Amino acid sequence: MGSLSNKRVILGVTGGIAAYKSAELIRCLQGEGAEVRVVMTPAATEFITPLTLQALSGNPVNLELLDTAAEAAMGHIELARWADLILIAPASADFIARLCHGEGNDLLSTVCLASHSPIAIAPAMNKHMWENNATQNNLQQLRAQTVHIFGPATGYQACGDVGEGRMEDPTTLARMTGSLFEKGLLSGKKVVITAGPTREALDPVRYISNHSSGKMGYALAQAAMEAGATTILISGPVQIAPPERVKIIAVESAENMLSAALDELDGTDIFIAAAAVADYRPASVAEQKIKKNDDDMFIQLVKNPDIVATIAAHPKRPLTIGFAAETENLEHYAKQKLQNKKLDLVIANDVSDSTIGFNSDDNRVLLVESGGSKKLPIMNKNLLATRLIEHIASLSKTSQP
Ligand code: PMT
Repeated sequence: MGSLSNKRVILGVTGGIAAYKSAELIRCLQGEGAEVRVVMTPAATEFITPLTLQALSGNPVNLELLDTAAEAAMGHIELARWADLILIAPASADFIARLCHGEGNDLLSTVCLASHSPIAIAPAMNKHMWENNATQNNLQQLRAQTVHIFGPATGYQACGDVGEGRMEDPTTLARMTGSLFEKGLLSGKKVVITAGPTREALDPVRYISNHSSGKMGYALAQAAMEAGATTILISGPVQIAPPERVKIIAVESAENMLSAALDELDGTDIFIAAAAVADYRPASVAEQKIKKNDDDMFIQLVKNPDIVATIAAHPKRPLTIGFAAETENLEHYAKQKLQNKKLDLVIANDVSDSTIGFNSDDNRVLLVESGGSKKLPIMNKNLLATRLIEHIASLSKTSQP
């Protein structure tokens, strides 16, 4: 997994001979895990065809400011909202001047004006144009506006001169782009999270389940994705919207959830079991709806597989974290789960309090590890998820060989 996993990059290509390197740059950015969309200025199309960049990026190349195909005919706004980063490579002296002065006279300059995302430029021009005071003043102003400036490199130029002004090579540019996101605590990691309830069928219309809403597991998935992890969410049936940029695997029963977890195990660095899995399921599932007959009815149940314990016992074991939902003796039972299921961390919540835990927006947890326990105050599940992911990222660092 690369330093740009989950990231959406707009590659802006302006008119210059180095535009031919954009083709390789797309490959390098994708190699780091980015999704790439290309915006070309009219001058760039003189140097490389949109068709080439479309084929390599796998997305249509954007050329026109007024795009009747885009929703509300405002392609620049849609693109500006989509991007996590705008990388302009090559950035010509003319484009640098227009960016510096906030002009919006083509699609690329307008996307830059409309975007809140970081902008990086890879200047490419003749060495005298690079050294010119006007260019240097523009660059100084762009730096002050926190535009990132990658390069340029020094060497032979297409015009025959030798000096500063060559575009940095695509591999270096992809690495520099990745470094802008390096603060992600889980960059390059694969995190698998289970969430929500399971449903254990009794007959075609009835099942055994619980009150889990999925909020805790979904908040963890969002926080893991924001920390840069490639995030897989194995979810029982819930009514909440899935986080963006997270792969969702929808399941029903505990057995479905276990097989999805095992399918995803390869390459997993961290497994977090936030799902409320039914411990038992009906021994058999009636083919037809069960009819009401006697005053009493007995359902024979059999034990479900323990998903988190199975993952913790696997030879490819990732850092494995479980929850404990208890109505009494919280710390005692959590410690038992830590030992019996051989977990690295148990996040224990007291679900006897109806304002926290199941189907609420808040939670209060106790972190139980072999080295001791730590209580966190009550907080919103989204904030708690960020705190938990920070803690899990530091555990993952210390548990690495
Ligand atoms: O979904 P919400 O409404 O936001 O509520 C969040 C929550 C209360 C469900 C969540 O915070 C939580 O506590 N999840 C675990 C619930 C639970 O089933 O706990 P448990 O103590 O029964 O199980 C212990 C651990 O083993 C859990 O990590 C559970 O996912 C796992 N388990 C349990 C049984 C089983 N067959 N397989 C498992 O993997």
